[in-house]
Amino acid sequence: MEQIRDRVFKHKNYNFVVGLTTPEYIDSLESFEIKDSDVFVVTYPKSGTVWAQQIIISIHELHGNQNKYSNNMERMPWLEYKTAEYTLLPSPRLFASHLPEHIMPPGVKEKKAKILYLMRNPKDNVVSFYHFSKAMADLDTPESFDQFFEWYITGNIFASSWFDHVREWYLNREQYNILFLTYEEMILDLKASVKKICNFLGINLTEAAISQVVEKATFQNMKNDSKANYEHLPPEQFSGKFLRKGQIGNWKNTLTVAQSERVDQVLREKLGDLPLSFIWE
Ligand code: A3P
Repeated sequence: MEQIRDRVFKHKNYNFVVGLTTPEYIDSLESFEIKDSDVFVVTYPKSGTVWAQQIIISIHELHGNQNKYSNNMERMPWLEYKTAEYTLLPSPRLFASHLPEHIMPPGVKEKKAKILYLMRNPKDNVVSFYHFSKAMADLDTPESFDQFFEWYITGNIFASSWFDHVREWYLNREQYNILFLTYEEMILDLKASVKKICNFLGINLTEAAISQVVEKATFQNMKNDSKANYEHLPPEQFSGKFLRKGQIGNWKNTLTVAQSERVDQVLREKLGDLPLSFIWE
């Protein structure tokens, strides 16, 4: 196990959080049995994972799938953290994951399992990740935003490089049943995004049901929803808010001009050859 910093270890060329998973469990994912009905939300951390979780869980609920779980984390657990016996979960199984493409169970390619890959512009992403790292006891606490920015831009951080994560998933997209969506698209038109997700999942909901999903997924309603707001986490583990600002463009209050230009430059170097564009404000 290669230790990267106090709370981060590298395995299979990707950085995991010490104590939340093990190299042995990650290796076991190579033979993790996938079902056609499995649904995954895959993200780089702080890209709107819990938002997509709420939407996908609500869509399934309104489609008649009973939800007896006390929170979204139980209904849609993280694949890389073994918090339940996943083989025993009823179908359709819903998973969240921050795994890079090269560590995803190979069975996902062979089955009809679906992946929603949600991305967020890296300037807002780094700011959100910074605040999260200060609040989450499992992660290394940065001394300053400047220090965190260096960790982020060089990928010496939990989840490695945002740039590599997005690039790898995008380059290998043809091998998967995958829908790419951005956090910014969801902010700008939540209803259209929910409809896109329903279409992708092959679930037909009435207009009224779609409106109900949208209603449950607004920032304010999620903040007050005990199943969705992650306030079930003990304060000694997490002392912040999962639903913090929920905006596009807030990075302008934090990044210096030089830091913003550095993101632009790395974006050109690492993703400049791909037809990806991001909304910054
Ligand atoms: P901010 O820290 O910028 O507020 P993740 O779920 O991947 O950890 O991402 C968390 C980010 O998504 C946080 O961003 C959080 O506020 C935002 N988010 C979660 N639910 C949201 C919603 N319903 N509307 C807008 N943003 C949301």
